[in-house]
Amino acid sequence: KRVLILNGPNLNLLGTREKSIYGGDTLADIEALCRETCEKLGMACDFRQSNHEGELVDWIQSARKTADAIVINPAAYSHTSVAIHDALRTLDQPILEVHLSNIHQREPFRHHSYVSAVAKGVICGLGPRGYTLALEAVAEILN
Ligand code: DQA
Repeated sequence: KRVLILNGPNLNLLGTREKSIYGGDTLADIEALCRETCEKLGMACDFRQSNHEGELVDWIQSARKTADAIVINPAAYSHTSVAIHDALRTLDQPILEVHLSNIHQREPFRHHSYVSAVAKGVICGLGPRGYTLALEAVAEILN
């Protein structure tokens, strides 16, 4: 089984920016954690990050044929992107939404995510562990 793990804007800066909110792990650290977890679960891992909404939409569209599940941290686009919502809702595959921080504890503009309505489940506030929990859930759902 193949999992596409998508990361939205500014997540390339993890480990250097707003460490008190997002922790000290870099995106490379999270990628390594995801690869290790996928290997353990017997799944192939395609891990990507983009700062561009359209690129994320393109990747989601191509996932229709190339992925069995999607784990996505849409970052700021969670709160703004009808385009990502629409792209995701065309998929039949399970979608798991992850946020490192607890978005409900933060500014009101982060409390709503356009992705949650099309996600099978949402994990937030558990840091990088959210990604591994999402991957474990994916493995269980696909089996
Ligand atoms: C985030 C939360 C978003 O509100 C924010 O814009 C991010 C990261 C998280 O992982 O906690 O960039 O998705």
